[in-house]
Amino acid sequence: MRMYDIILKKRRGQALSDEEIRAVVSGYTAGEIPDEQVSALLMAVCFQGMDERETASLTEAMLHSGDAADLSAIPGVKADKHSTGGVGDKTSLIVAPLVAACGVKVAKMSGRGLGHTGGTLDKLESIPGLSVNISRERFFEIVRDEGLAIIGQTGNIAPADKKLYALRDVTATVDSVPLIASSIMSKKLAAGSDVIVLDVKTGSGAFMQTLEGSIELAKAMVSIGERHGRRTAALVTDMDRPLGCAVGNALEVDEAVRTLRGEGPADLTSLSLELAANMLHLAGMDIGESRERVRRALEDGSGFWKLCRLAAAQGGDTRVLEDTSLLPRAPFTGEVRAPRSGCLTHMQTQEIGAVSALLGAGRARKEDAVDAGAGLVLRHKTGEYVREGEVIAKLYTSREETLAPASERLLGALEWGEAAPVLPPLIAARVTRGGVERY
Ligand code: URA
Repeated sequence: MRMYDIILKKRRGQALSDEEIRAVVSGYTAGEIPDEQVSALLMAVCFQGMDERETASLTEAMLHSGDAADLSAIPGVKADKHSTGGVGDKTSLIVAPLVAACGVKVAKMSGRGLGHTGGTLDKLESIPGLSVNISRERFFEIVRDEGLAIIGQTGNIAPADKKLYALRDVTATVDSVPLIASSIMSKKLAAGSDVIVLDVKTGSGAFMQTLEGSIELAKAMVSIGERHGRRTAALVTDMDRPLGCAVGNALEVDEAVRTLRGEGPADLTSLSLELAANMLHLAGMDIGESRERVRRALEDGSGFWKLCRLAAAQGGDTRVLEDTSLLPRAPFTGEVRAPRSGCLTHMQTQEIGAVSALLGAGRARKEDAVDAGAGLVLRHKTGEYVREGEVIAKLYTSREETLAPASERLLGALEWGEAAPVLPPLIAARVTRGGVERY
């Protein structure tokens, strides 16, 4: 089997066999196929696509390139949630405690932020002392005793994806449905949970910028999960606006805490509740009862208490959750003021994420450190009328020289008009094995 022939076959739009896909994945992981040939194949996949069988086969090959977690030693149903990445998306910090408070265990492997998107691990690490690098035994113990734990991806989960993703990142081959679906699902399947709820973002801050593209991605991922015997559902949600108001690690922990105390922004609260309810539903509960249970866990404080238990079990100082003014906060601040009066008709969400990264909250390369206290808080969001001179956002940084370029870039990301725009729904669709339900 020659790699040249496999590339040509896909370039001509033909489906690859399972054997060919396995040979590419194992050969590339072992270092036997050079980057240039795999890059060419990835580009051909971007143009020609892959059918459902090929996508499942690619997922399978990446899943089996490394270790898979066996969570069977933890009694009960284990649920996981995954977001395809966004700006201000701190839902994991809210959803995992709510679900655990309702009696379903969450054993979660999360990632770090890269580029304009944030990552749950970076956010959690802004709680002083909290470690996401704990042993497998301790991880199991915390999930068993507290009902939830969140750790980083262990070394040998889907190593083929790690290599392929790094190559896709530099060859403009990230935004392809079969490549994204197989990349995410190989890791989710390897992480071992019985139930998976996906939050597939759509809009200017997402990988897939159109609703139809996002629904297609959601369908591909749900199909892979169900084929592997995991109950899987996806919500397709708006990322044309940042989620909530805070963007940046400790700032987002603060907003997550306020949300778990019932004082969070409406969009973040309603999406978190719906994601949590869907996890309970897939774990076996009626959807109406699931919604009622998660709402109660928010209102009675049991979700907040679970977040404190998680932080304490992983070595974190819970005083910063009781009093969020103790969270790290970068020393230099700036205010971005409206240059005119008018209605904010659109925010280029990816740019808002990039501004937060510029202030120090994100990283350009995997090995970069993040500044826990940096980021921004939006005082106004899309659809709101703002008067000239009013503060639109507050910026936080440890690098004072970034304040001026960050303000300028943020202003450049805003679009103005006279009339309020019609905003898309926060949750556009729910995709299950039964089909697509549009909201
Ligand atoms: N996240 C992943 O893990 N993989 C992708 O391909 C895109 C987002």
